[in-house]
Amino acid sequence: MSGQAILHLATRADAAGIAALSRDRIEQGLGWSWTAPRVLRSVRDPATNVVVAHRSGRMLGFGIMKYHDDDSHLLLLAVHAQATRRGIGSALLAWLERSALAAGIGQVYLEARLANGAARAFYARLGYREIQTLPGYYQGVEACVRLAKDLWPAPVAPG
Ligand SMILES: CC(C)(COP(=O)(O)OP(=O)(O)OC[C@H]1O[C@@H](n2cnc3c(N)ncnc32)[C@H](O)[C@@H]1OP(=O)(O)O)[C@@H](O)C(=O)NCCC(=O)NCCS
Repeated sequence: MSGQAILHLATRADAAGIAALSRDRIEQGLGWSWTAPRVLRSVRDPATNVVVAHRSGRMLGFGIMKYHDDDSHLLLLAVHAQATRRGIGSALLAWLERSALAAGIGQVYLEARLANGAARAFYARLGYREIQTLPGYYQGVEACVRLAKDLWPAPVAPG
């Protein structure tokens, strides 16, 4: 794969591809809840950003973040298995974090499967802290870890 991935807001044409990627990369073993109609609702929701990464006409990854008054919630993030470890996940998350900051929101929360070591390593690398473990979070059968990141720069000590 060559060339730079292009990131942009998703359109209705991306909904089926996003839903399939969620089914295959995020929801495996849990039942498919992020079907195309649900993704489309997020695309149309003014309080939610759905960002996609494309290269050479192919969708390589996506992220969905919901913005609340004081914080934001990363609902889903996935990159195609053949496109991982090329910085696409980081670029998608940075895009969503910048949008949160632009809206005056300084806190991001998300949940990941406790057993998802790759995702936990990824989020740790990007500055997310693990703040809570919730047993049975996924359909009563699988635990999650909740993570948080403060997007505001730390205040500089005077002097
Ligand atoms: C987690 C995921 C989004 C990462 O996407 P990605 O495009 O591969 O991530 P990046 O290339 O930006 O990785 C940035 C850094 O995160 C860490 N990282 C990423 N994947 C990792 C892995 N499998 N194991 C260990 N560390 C990893 C590394 O430090 C990496 O930097 P490096 O490649 O220079 O070592 C991707 O693996 C994925 O889609 N997984 C399945 C879905 C999922 O788990 N989503 C998150 C929970 S909803």
